[in-house]
Amino acid sequence: MTARKIIIDTDPGQDDAVAILLALASPELEVLGITAVAGNVPLSLTQKNALIVCELAGRTDVAVYAGCDAPLTRKLVTAEHVHGKTGLDGPQLPTPKMELQAAHAVEFIIETLRREDAGTVTLCPLGPLTNIATAFQQAPDIVDRVQEIVLMGGAYFQVGNITPAAEFNIYVDPEAADIVFRSGAPIVVMPLDVTHKALTTQPRVDAFRAMGTEPGRMVAEWTDFFERFDKEKYGSEGAPLHDPCVIAYLIQPNLFSGRHINVEVETQSELTLGMTVADWWRVTDRVPNALFMGHLDADGFFALLTDRIGRL
Ligand code: BDR
Ligand code: CA
Repeated sequence: MTARKIIIDTDPGQDDAVAILLALASPELEVLGITAVAGNVPLSLTQKNALIVCELAGRTDVAVYAGCDAPLTRKLVTAEHVHGKTGLDGPQLPTPKMELQAAHAVEFIIETLRREDAGTVTLCPLGPLTNIATAFQQAPDIVDRVQEIVLMGGAYFQVGNITPAAEFNIYVDPEAADIVFRSGAPIVVMPLDVTHKALTTQPRVDAFRAMGTEPGRMVAEWTDFFERFDKEKYGSEGAPLHDPCVIAYLIQPNLFSGRHINVEVETQSELTLGMTVADWWRVTDRVPNALFMGHLDADGFFALLTDRIGRL
């Protein structure tokens, strides 16, 4: 088996952290690098958090790059109300010893896509799409070289989480999302419609804690913290592990199902800014540009996640 080459573009975030751990624990994937972007918290923290997570996985060999510190044209909106001040609130956080790479994340994305064989590198955006869109703008030649973009963002039936109409990652940088969705690269979307099915429960969190390992404990404490917000907001049993859905899809795609449809991003309206207008019911003749997921086998997803976190 040759491992699938991926770049994780991320704004950790507890659920981003779990996604990174899942990727680093999975032999099906080769993480070429991790690129940090401003999102859940400012870049100074997301880049540091990415280092913390690599060290937690015992993977100090993974290259981490700092990327864009603000959306393409707008002021950064952050989500400390969900993730806490550090972005990884919950457990006591270590100070990372690992260092960032000297190159900018966008440079790394461009160079990697040019260096590797065309169609062999998958981009995994777990935050606002600023780094990816900037790379596409600076180097349009790389778009055709992307194997696939598997991203967490948007919503159709669940509509929005940061505004009544928009999901956070798309809302923070709608212009970047628009560039990516119009790019012509093959896209798989994990919207809130799917990630809200990846819900933690007490037994699922207990399974992480019961591993008796540092990664298991951290994942349990991160989810404990992250849960309080969604429990209060949705009255749900636990919290959605949004970003790990992206990585789980690469390992076990049959856990998910969806529709190949047209998805466009609202960039003009103040009221619905960042809305992903997904033609789920195929009521237009707009050309399909994304595989938009709608369903998840949640038990299968948590079985995979528990197995892999347990390997760390
Ligand atoms: C997305 O926003 C962030 O808060 C999470 O990390 C996830 O990527 C969910 O809307
Ligand atoms: Ca994220």
